[in-house]
Amino acid sequence: MAMVCLSDFEAYAKKYLPKIAWDFFAAGADDCITRDENILAYKRIHLRPRMLRDVSMMDIRTKLQGTEISFPVGIAPTGFHQLAWPDGEKSTARAAKAMNICYIASTYSTCTLEEISAAAPGGLRWFQLYIHRNRAVSQQLIQQAEALGFQGLVLTVDLPYTGKRRDDIRNGFRLPPHMKLKNLEGAFEVCKMSLLDPSVTWNDIYWLQSLTHLPIIIKGILTKEDAELAVRHGVQGIIVSNHGGRQLDGGSATIDALVEVVEAVQDKVEVYLDGGIRKGSDILKALALGAKCVFIGRPALWGLAYKGEEGLQDVLRILQDEFRLSMALAGCANVSDIGRHLVQFSKL
Ligand code: FNR
Repeated sequence: MAMVCLSDFEAYAKKYLPKIAWDFFAAGADDCITRDENILAYKRIHLRPRMLRDVSMMDIRTKLQGTEISFPVGIAPTGFHQLAWPDGEKSTARAAKAMNICYIASTYSTCTLEEISAAAPGGLRWFQLYIHRNRAVSQQLIQQAEALGFQGLVLTVDLPYTGKRRDDIRNGFRLPPHMKLKNLEGAFEVCKMSLLDPSVTWNDIYWLQSLTHLPIIIKGILTKEDAELAVRHGVQGIIVSNHGGRQLDGGSATIDALVEVVEAVQDKVEVYLDGGIRKGSDILKALALGAKCVFIGRPALWGLAYKGEEGLQDVLRILQDEFRLSMALAGCANVSDIGRHLVQFSKL
């Protein structure tokens, strides 16, 4: 089967993954309205391409917190990569390094942070944190990540409790016994998420700042009010995200929320987006609306399910080629040429 676009990988993963794993990856909360909106919303945003602008030499590189990446896409944190491929997060780290992009490793990885680092030394990686009730567990993970050369700390703020994902409940989802949440072994019973701390507040940003020199990126912001608070609390970046529609159902698509967040932040910190990125023109639209970079969640898992590290590289290469082509067809030779003038919202 020729793999031409990301939906080809989705179809492959759906066909070949065990149902319980496919359902877990695909799940949205409740009626999955927000999950689906993340994708549909791109159809309401139309491009305004410019012509005759010499696109013979294309430069699609950009910078993430000062570090150069080959194009403005990274890998969003997702848990349990061994459900997709036996080498799990080690394969993810290798693919990200090979493509010179950023990989955000989840607290809920099935490989340890050491294993992830050793698999792709020198690769650009950020560590995603869920704060646990036992703060010593979180503190130790942050300090370990920093010591291992992770270059950013991503605090996910949209999961005080796990959203209601119906298929996971029906399937009685849990990790198979041979897989472990390796970074939390001993910290709590596997897959029992109730030790996440739902009492976290903005003040905990100061606690994190006292523990680490890493830039702090806050993931899960959807409103201008919270974007302003994030800037005021001294974070270095914001990921506009609704957790792929897996948490609160009924919220807007991330591409729609991006607009008010970018307006509120006024270039004080970098703003990124995840949710629903499935092709090159989606990336172009997100950058036109002010995102510095976008991240992919499920498509990375489909790539892993297809052929591990190689399959994930295939997914990233397709996105890279599509993004370069979309930029050229819109009249942008450099990422800095992309701006708000490139998009309009459809009235429908
Ligand atoms: C996630 N996501 C997530 N986020 C996070 O901060 N920590 C995590 O451990 C996870 N785990 C996770 C597992 C699975 C299976 C999915 C699908 C998602 C959310 C993720 O980082 C990201 O916000 C969304 O996946 C982006 O949407 P798309 O690209 O999947 O549409």
